[in-house]
Amino acid sequence: MKFSIITFLSLAGGIVALPTAPLEAHDDPSLAPITLVDGPSHSENVTCKGDSDTASYSGEDVYEAVQYAISLMQSGQTRGKAKYPHSLHANSGHPLNFPESCPADKSRYGYPLGKGFYYNGGPRNQTTGNELVVFYHKDDEIDTQNHPKAYFCGLVTRGGRDNGEFRNC
Ligand SMILES: *[C@@H]1O[C@H](CO)[C@@H](O)[C@H](O)[C@H]1NC(C)=O
Ligand SMILES: *[C@@H]1O[C@H](CO)[C@@H](O)[C@H](O)[C@H]1NC(C)=O
Repeated sequence: MKFSIITFLSLAGGIVALPTAPLEAHDDPSLAPITLVDGPSHSENVTCKGDSDTASYSGEDVYEAVQYAISLMQSGQTRGKAKYPHSLHANSGHPLNFPESCPADKSRYGYPLGKGFYYNGGPRNQTTGNELVVFYHKDDEIDTQNHPKAYFCGLVTRGGRDNGEFRNC
């Protein structure tokens, strides 16, 4: 990038203004394919019944949230004031229940879901939305093609209460 800007400047003689790159994209890690074991198909809808309404996400939303979360983990980054993705192994209010592939240890993570986009902190790098996708991923676990391998555990929700405890969907 630096090289091409310098090349461009010397070619243009510095007369032409450079286009400005979007700032938010700057420290977003690049997305690589992952294997999400037991995950929904991309066109399937995954729903979560809240107190007053039912939230629905596509399987693609779920996949992209886990994919982005893993790329954050690999580059040592987090998003939002709650520092997602973060381990979701203890929950005082509601006990969380997941399949056996998702034991309650530090490799079980939660990451916020978005409808039609993946959560990257938003304009103010805060948490939005009520639902998290929960997945299980050990740092060194890969599939046969060397891609990160994670297990889909399910969705949790805070059910519309800002400081509510998460519970299973
Ligand atoms: C998923 O939800 C969308 C939007 O509500 C709908 O258009 C689509 O038909 C649903 N897909 C399936 C497989 O139910
Ligand atoms: C967002 O907040 C996290 C803390 O969770 C911080 O590590 C990260 O650098 C912030 N990202 C941006 C783009 O401000």
